[in-house]
Amino acid sequence: MIEKIGTLKKEISSFTILNKVDLEEFRLEFLSRNGKIQEMFKLMGSVPNEEKAMVGKSMNEVKNLAQKKYDDAKIKLQKSAKKSFGASDDISLPVPPRYTGSLHPLTKALNEIKQIFLRLGFNIADGPELEDDFHNFTALNFPPDHPARDMQDTFFVRRSDENPDENQVLRTHTSPVQIRLMKNKDLPIRSIMPGRVYRNEAVTAKSYFQFNQVEGLYVDKNVTLGELIETLVMFAKLMYGSDVKYRVRPSFFPFTEPSLEMDVWWENDQGGQWLEILGAGMVDPNVFDAVNVDTEIYTGFAFGMGVDRIALLRYGIDDIRTLYENDIRVLQQFK
Ligand code: DAH
Repeated sequence: MIEKIGTLKKEISSFTILNKVDLEEFRLEFLSRNGKIQEMFKLMGSVPNEEKAMVGKSMNEVKNLAQKKYDDAKIKLQKSAKKSFGASDDISLPVPPRYTGSLHPLTKALNEIKQIFLRLGFNIADGPELEDDFHNFTALNFPPDHPARDMQDTFFVRRSDENPDENQVLRTHTSPVQIRLMKNKDLPIRSIMPGRVYRNEAVTAKSYFQFNQVEGLYVDKNVTLGELIETLVMFAKLMYGSDVKYRVRPSFFPFTEPSLEMDVWWENDQGGQWLEILGAGMVDPNVFDAVNVDTEIYTGFAFGMGVDRIALLRYGIDDIRTLYENDIRVLQQFK
């Protein structure tokens, strides 16, 4: 027994405690309820009576030795932790910087757009990013040989080798959400549909393989082109200020007839330029047919805009990649 106590004493003395983990290990090994010291005390019963006093005394010494080593090490570690954090009683020292979070410029631009359309009586709808050919192209009146259906422009996702009809695409625009809303037939519809879209483009300062759009759709009885233009002008004024200079030009999209585009005048150091901000038009009757909406009763308008362009202009960012690389030093500038 005395020998065992001697060994234990040596073990305790030679244990090095350099950090908190060591400290806890030390406690578990020697001082805890199942630790070596308690185990030793349990053996006291088998010690002959005449030796009990002597053995007990040595055991208590060992226990005190371990407890003191533990307490000393703990205090030492606490002191050095304080030092390394630089805590000091000198309250005149500068405080280390603290960074609060901030909203991403895309989120900010998107929030502004949403607020405007909520004010104009639109609600917000959502659709999947992985679409099928029907929703992304066919129902939107894209002819079978339309260039957007080319691998060069679209990311196709192979789902099945046997049945090519099950293959899907990463949606190339938010317009397929229009189809989903109209298929649900909860008419009238007055919704915007924000979301991420994908195109098979080389990554450059001006283009990226993913970006964000906000789609709009209004379907009801007697919706007119005049109302579309009125809505778009209202949007431009709320987004860019009531003195915004804008123009509306005829254009072409398979899913609208007639179709138009809206530009706003952007002042810059070189003078200024017209920038296209959205495409729009009256929903093409072929689209209504694809989703069985009665064209005798309903008409509608649709529009789609890029959020990235708005964010880039609004915050004077000249490289679209900045929006997707999430460099914390960039994000910190958008408080
Ligand atoms: N989907 C078109 C694009 O990605 C944008 C667009 C144009 C959407 C006209 C519309 C629309 O709803 O009416 O370029």
